[in-house]
Amino acid sequence: MRVIHDVDTMQGLARTRYGQVSTALVPTMGALHEGHLSLIRLAHDRAEQVDVTIFVNPTQFGPGEDLEQYPRPLEDDLAACRREGVTTVFCPQAGQMYAGDHSTLIAESVVSEGLCGRFRAGHFDGVVTVVAKLFNIMLPTVAVFGQKDYQQVCVIQRMVRDLAFPVEIVVAPIVREADGLAMSSRNRTLGADERARALALSQGLMQARADVAGGERDARRLEQALSRALGKAGLQVQYAACVDADTLAPVRAVVRPTLFAVAALVGQTRLIDNVILQPRVE
Ligand code: PAJ
Repeated sequence: MRVIHDVDTMQGLARTRYGQVSTALVPTMGALHEGHLSLIRLAHDRAEQVDVTIFVNPTQFGPGEDLEQYPRPLEDDLAACRREGVTTVFCPQAGQMYAGDHSTLIAESVVSEGLCGRFRAGHFDGVVTVVAKLFNIMLPTVAVFGQKDYQQVCVIQRMVRDLAFPVEIVVAPIVREADGLAMSSRNRTLGADERARALALSQGLMQARADVAGGERDARRLEQALSRALGKAGLQVQYAACVDADTLAPVRAVVRPTLFAVAALVGQTRLIDNVILQPRVE
């Protein structure tokens, strides 16, 4: 496995193999867990070589967010990539990715507006900009992203379509802990009590799925029930929203596949989760 830290070396390597071997890219911010590893395994099915990027991207963190606290266990991450048969890991320092006077940003202005966009101003601009840059450096055939960050995938798909990036986007299902909590690098910052209370997120979403299977269609009732359950568990809800799974526009009734997405603070830690609600066929 090659571990590359600088942009020119990485892009040079990518250019020599471009068109010769297919490559699947898994972009990450490190602190790898089973969710990331599932993306790597899916990537192996989709291309001859798998590349992973590990970069805690400062431009997608807002003031007061957890950029400094974000875990960076690089040696463990590299060992995990080796075990998973990764061909190349690109792990640049921030100075490598952004010149001191960098001044170009890509902004997606429709699907990035609601949900997390309302609470994290500029976040998705940072995401699409770094992903576009990583695509230009890595020159992947396909790139794999997790449904865990559903809105992120939607924004990236828009960017790829609107700017004609020659990259196929593959979406991987959410990997959960045995008790249902969606895996996240941020879970490791939870104390024991917070970890227990965080379970309300996945449990509330599973309850909603059961309610919809039982015939519930009213989006407001589903949203209120989830918000109440999270409040009871001591979580500070940012949003609990039923939106169209394609456009992310708010819906009043679950009559098509609907994304039920949630974001809440558990202590200082911001967690997100989602499910797709499938309306019952009458
Ligand atoms: P990060 O949070 O490290 O996530 C990297 C990828 O892993 C994302 O595509 C994310 O959706 C996926 N992922 C995280 N938890 C998952 C889980 N429990 N199950 C399945 N997939 C999961 O997302 C980012 O980094 C960054 O925004 C990035 C795209 C790398 C740009 O900086």
